[in-house]
Amino acid sequence: MSQDLQKIIAGRRAAEFVKNGMVVGIGSGSTIAHFIEALGERVANEQLNIVGVATSEKTRRNAAQLGIPMYNVDDIDKIDLTIDGADQISDDFSAIKGGGAALLWEKIVAFNSRENIWVVDASKRVDKLNQYLPVEVIPYGSDQLFKRFTASGFHPTWRLDQNGNPVRTDSANFLIDLHLPIIENPRELGDELIKMVGVVEHGLFTDVVNHVIVGTDDHSVNVIDVK
Ligand code: A5P
Repeated sequence: MSQDLQKIIAGRRAAEFVKNGMVVGIGSGSTIAHFIEALGERVANEQLNIVGVATSEKTRRNAAQLGIPMYNVDDIDKIDLTIDGADQISDDFSAIKGGGAALLWEKIVAFNSRENIWVVDASKRVDKLNQYLPVEVIPYGSDQLFKRFTASGFHPTWRLDQNGNPVRTDSANFLIDLHLPIIENPRELGDELIKMVGVVEHGLFTDVVNHVIVGTDDHSVNVIDVK
């Protein structure tokens, strides 16, 4: 089965985890687009009474268009459950996120949530994290930070749009992608990055996820309970 179909079945299955009365953190990306669609259907057809908190402006717009009432993270007491995508998930259930430029809001929403579910297609499961790592940085001084990343052996590249301009996140920051062969110790790397002046947040998510929903090759989904 294609990756797209895996995303559809996993994303739609994730909507079944939402219960009446919940405050729901709503992730970003192409897999989560299917979750939002299915959640919108449940709100319309089952009179599901929920409130959503978005991890990106795009998600906020899409969810609101489908009739899901959207609140800011500071307008609610606590998020009950956040459902989000991921770029890679390793065997120890660390993840790289931020391929869609939403990692900062995604991390804020995840850390204000009682429970977190990640939804992915099977290609995202890896032994060890080995994909480019997005880092959100303050524009002021970012050329200097880029040089420090280079000196640290992180092989940075700027995230650019189709016109060659730096991508701006929803918080108006820049993104620098780090290209490391394998991330052996995500916690250690995350601690190192967050201490570098000018780094706002990095795309390593550790000790966050409670359940992982994986779309598989045989038209089914695996639900993995992590904690
Ligand atoms: C957004 O910044 C990311 O963290 C996404 O959750 C991640 O890129 C997954 O996206 P897809 O579902 O489109 O692969």
